[in-house]
Amino acid sequence: MTVSPPGLSEVLGRTFPFPRRHFLSIQDLNPVEVTGLLDLADGFVSLNRQTSKKLDLLKGRTLMNLFFENSTRTQSSFELAGKRLGADTVNMSPRSSSISKGETLIDTAVTLNAMQPDILIIRHAASGAASLLAQKVSCSVINAGDGQHEHPTQALLDALSMRRAFGRIAGLRVAICGDVLHSRVARSNVGLLQMMGAEVRLVGPPTLMPAEAGRWGVSIFHDLREGITGCDVVMMLRLQLERMDGVMAPSQREYFRFWGLDREKLACAGPHVRVMHPGPMNRGVEIDSDVADDLNVSLIQDQVEMGVAARMAVLAALAARLDNN
Ligand code: NCD
Repeated sequence: MTVSPPGLSEVLGRTFPFPRRHFLSIQDLNPVEVTGLLDLADGFVSLNRQTSKKLDLLKGRTLMNLFFENSTRTQSSFELAGKRLGADTVNMSPRSSSISKGETLIDTAVTLNAMQPDILIIRHAASGAASLLAQKVSCSVINAGDGQHEHPTQALLDALSMRRAFGRIAGLRVAICGDVLHSRVARSNVGLLQMMGAEVRLVGPPTLMPAEAGRWGVSIFHDLREGITGCDVVMMLRLQLERMDGVMAPSQREYFRFWGLDREKLACAGPHVRVMHPGPMNRGVEIDSDVADDLNVSLIQDQVEMGVAARMAVLAALAARLDNN
């Protein structure tokens, strides 16, 4: 079946008003907006499964991907999302740009802004980089991951994957496990899942648990089997060695023994448990291939698919605001 390409106002008019110029943090959103974005993304999932995947909601618009950290999924899904909505999409690689000659983030942003992009998508190792940029440019800014702070589109695609698997988010018991300390994915997911009525647990060794997590309204566990007991979703996090400035975990083999999700530990979770991971995975460190590749439990490939649709929803919502300028 072919879904006829709906006009922007028709799609958004059916869903929700999105009055924001930027998409920087889950903290900025409310449940109506999250539900609206998820509904919109659901429509884009159907579109993306068709032979002809292209709409012109963002026709004439320019999107710039500015990724200061490596990325496979996030960068390519934003690029595809932009293209599927009809935008011109440019990928700026800091390694081949003047940034490698010492230009500052702000100088680069102001330079790119002068080329009149409509949406700038930024990933940067410094927490707060995306909101700093948003204050300096006249276009919309999307945070594609800033340091250890937030990764809001990842939380949105994770919520979409869960809602499609379970038919709801409210009431789900979700365990986010592993290197919570260095994870922007964990922070954005805690915010979104709590806002939508899920019960969130954080599970990991004390050295990899943020000191302030006790104030997030989540339950904290330092034993994987205990932490995932009775959970609907077990979300594993990558051991983020590049963010550690000392030894915070034992050897990778030891880490796997205590914190790696394998079939035997997973048996402690609920009977219909689904396993998630934002990628890239360290197989045999935080997750066993046997679990990661089992399509009866793993949502990891769904997450990648949902990433494109969720990012299309964010782009479409921001573009509607641009149209009303
Ligand atoms: C995550 C990130 O970059 O924060 N990955 C992603 O966006 N797919 C998680 C990670 O790097 O471990």
